[in-house]
Amino acid sequence: MKTRLVVLASGNGSNLRAILEACESGRLDAEVVGVVSNRQALAIDRAISYGAPTEVLDSVGQDRRSYDIKLAEQVKSYSPDFVILAGWMRILSMAFLEHFPDRVVNLHPALPDAFPGTNAIRRAFDAFHAGEIERTGVMVHLVPDEQVDVGPVIRSIEVVIRETDSFDALEKRIHEAEHEVLVMAIQDLIIGSAMGQFV
Ligand code: GRF
Repeated sequence: MKTRLVVLASGNGSNLRAILEACESGRLDAEVVGVVSNRQALAIDRAISYGAPTEVLDSVGQDRRSYDIKLAEQVKSYSPDFVILAGWMRILSMAFLEHFPDRVVNLHPALPDAFPGTNAIRRAFDAFHAGEIERTGVMVHLVPDEQVDVGPVIRSIEVVIRETDSFDALEKRIHEAEHEVLVMAIQDLIIGSAMGQFV
């Protein structure tokens, strides 16, 4: 039976597309059974074009706990094996996370313990030019609690920053790395899960 993935996405959905393509090509023995966004995002249009079920749960004016309870109900209705945060721009509280222990997976466009939160690529670029770092990267990790971009690492990969890199060039390379590492990390989870173990 295919692994059931629910993807939460707030943005352009290029990582969602990488997952959908990997499912369609058979690279991942998985199916995207639901895509949820907190706003009308391009990610939703992408999901629709691949025939994946979608839901927009608008978060404007909602308090975090009641929103997360509603979100958990929606996600549970898809019976997911894993919940993938692919550009999900909201912090999830335990009101959501407690329903999916060891099942929520986040993508962060920086290395473990580096630049948590938003604008990670920009902050890495600036840190490079301040002589503070030589490389950045991408990581995929489990989300055990409410800390931002922290949790057991499933996969990470370094991305070199070149002196000649414009910000756009670095950002493009980071996104390409994300698309690859995210699919590889989901593959790791599927294999681990088939063996009866998790990372
Ligand atoms: C990615 O860089 C992700 O790591 C970050 O937001 C971006 C989302 O890109 N949190 P997309 O919506 O998947 O194109």
